[in-house]
Amino acid sequence: MAIIIKTPDQIEKMRRAGHILGELLNILVESAKPGISTKELDNFAEKFIKEKGGQPAFKSYRGYPATICTAIDEVVVHGIPKESQILKNGDLLTIDSGVIYQGFYSDAARSVGIGQISAQKQKLISTAKIALSKAIDMAKPGVHLGEISKVIQKIIESAGFHVIHDLTGHGIGTALHEEPHVLNYYDGHPGPILKAGMTLAIEPIFAIGTSEIITRQDNWTIQTKDGSCAVQQENTILITEYGNEILTEQT
Ligand code: CO
Repeated sequence: MAIIIKTPDQIEKMRRAGHILGELLNILVESAKPGISTKELDNFAEKFIKEKGGQPAFKSYRGYPATICTAIDEVVVHGIPKESQILKNGDLLTIDSGVIYQGFYSDAARSVGIGQISAQKQKLISTAKIALSKAIDMAKPGVHLGEISKVIQKIIESAGFHVIHDLTGHGIGTALHEEPHVLNYYDGHPGPILKAGMTLAIEPIFAIGTSEIITRQDNWTIQTKDGSCAVQQENTILITEYGNEILTEQT
């Protein structure tokens, strides 16, 4: 399977999908305060995406029941929002979501501290932001994808944290997941060479104490095996002629 190069028309749709998602995540991060339930955030997200002319990309993806994923502390990914899941001071929350706009996908995630969080949780979040931004800084035509994976791994491991090898970034376009896999560690292969028109979701995912994960009874929620905190930061980017454009970040 080849990596799909997007046409200018397709890129415009992906930009729109990314813009809606970037705006949404900014609002959700601002709204994530002690006392708010993750279901409230989910309801808002679905309404917001539809009002902007998009569709939630996660809802009914392989039967997933919500618009956002809410992962608190030891939950790594795919936490399902609930009325009974009330955010509290000290939580580390990751909000992950996706938008479809005229058939094209965006995918992004933000980790945020609720109220006052511990220094260790702050370090997790800042390391995730650095890993993602350094990875994106490197993404341009001619670069081997494996070089980017290597840098992500180095930043995570230098901080003393553990890459969750089983969860990776991916190509994205007319499907949420396309070729290639974007690993958060170097597997010994240089990997494909980036070209203008490729669109990638880059998502460093790692934990304080372990690389091992387990799936809970609900068949969705993935948590760390040792119960230590995990973090994720994700953007969808477009490789351009001389560098890249982040499609899911609104400032
Ligand atoms: Co993703």
